[in-house]
Amino acid sequence: MSFPLERVRSDFPVLSREVNGQPLAYLDSAASAQKPRQVIQREMSFFEQGYAAVHRGIHTMSAEATEQMENVRTQAAQFMNAESAEEIVFVKGSTEAINLVANTWGREFLQPGDHIILTEMEHHANIVPWQMLAKERGLHIDVWHLTPEGELDLSQLESLITPRTKLLTLAHVSNVLGTVNPLEKIIPQAKAAGLTVLVDGAQAVMHHAVDVQALGCDFYVWSGHKLYGPTGIGILYGRKALLDQMPPWEGGGSMIKHVSLTEGTTFAAAPWRFEAGTPNTGGIMGLGAAIEYVTELGLQNIHAYEQELMDYALKAMEQVPDIQIYGPTTRAGVIAFNLGKHHAYDVGSFLDQYGIAIRTGHHCAMPLMSFYGVPAMCRASLAMYNTREEVDRLVAGLQRIHRLLG
Ligand SMILES: Cc1ncc(COP(=O)(O)O)c(C=O)c1O
Repeated sequence: MSFPLERVRSDFPVLSREVNGQPLAYLDSAASAQKPRQVIQREMSFFEQGYAAVHRGIHTMSAEATEQMENVRTQAAQFMNAESAEEIVFVKGSTEAINLVANTWGREFLQPGDHIILTEMEHHANIVPWQMLAKERGLHIDVWHLTPEGELDLSQLESLITPRTKLLTLAHVSNVLGTVNPLEKIIPQAKAAGLTVLVDGAQAVMHHAVDVQALGCDFYVWSGHKLYGPTGIGILYGRKALLDQMPPWEGGGSMIKHVSLTEGTTFAAAPWRFEAGTPNTGGIMGLGAAIEYVTELGLQNIHAYEQELMDYALKAMEQVPDIQIYGPTTRAGVIAFNLGKHHAYDVGSFLDQYGIAIRTGHHCAMPLMSFYGVPAMCRASLAMYNTREEVDRLVAGLQRIHRLLG
């Protein structure tokens, strides 16, 4: 099937606006993706027609909203091929999901002197919660370093695993380099050594289908806003056997079975035990629409289109004089680069004058910036709604900078 690019673009109202007098070229979807009308309308119609507090009411509106919310849990489970909806926890996003695992599984199962492996390409969201826990618990963090191409050397994993290593936590796709880590090789090795494996899928789920059972990971996290859904909603997948053993993190309403001032509190079953308080129901409805949207298009079709665009973009960008592109040739979603001696912020501001939105800075991956010895990078993201024409405008903009400013 040829990818229905025009139809997809017309579903995203914002793509037809102008920025600084130019048509918007939105190349920042890895930070946060734009929303199709279907997502916006689902959320709006929930607030207009169906809004009520979930879980606590017996009235019709509450029952309907609860059913819809639980349907999205099932949808999310099917989207990732989880075994059941009970393996799906609604969270704010990838950051909260990782913090939840660190604070529940980590506090329960990690002992002083235990080791955690994480990689040099991780987003701060998959570094800082572990550093905080390591400090509190006396854990050791071992770093899986990168090759100059920005990939993991698989032969290094064996030597990183010690008898005290308990966890491997790593990105599925790097948010800076676009490196797609070969989880199908990494996870079996880690599991054979008895490790628990957490995968940060924040930059993966929008680019290709994810099957958590085939991967064999224990936890898989992602954020709705990067999958064309709302902000403030994301998914923590946890293998049921693990979630069942994990204590709650936040306490409050909705996560309890019984509360007594004299006898204490008993807790609800997973996943509800991890969802204290009133959930982001509007966001959950929008997330359901986003999952439906990409599922209807087909992740394999999205992947094929994006890969073709990525090949085109890499070839075109390599022609820009003095450009330094970081990361491997096979990648998903993002192209990080620097242009000559220009600071990334200057490049980003210049392009913005032409309506081209890219990301600049450390991309919440300071250790990766240190690895490459730079304070910042520019990053152009390619999502399913981006076009060759937008890539051409980016390349023309970069060439203009080089021509005018050297
Ligand atoms: C790889 C990766 N992990 C985690 C996150 C954090 O996601 P969120 O801010 O939605 O919690 C991001 C966001 O950019 C990311 O790219």
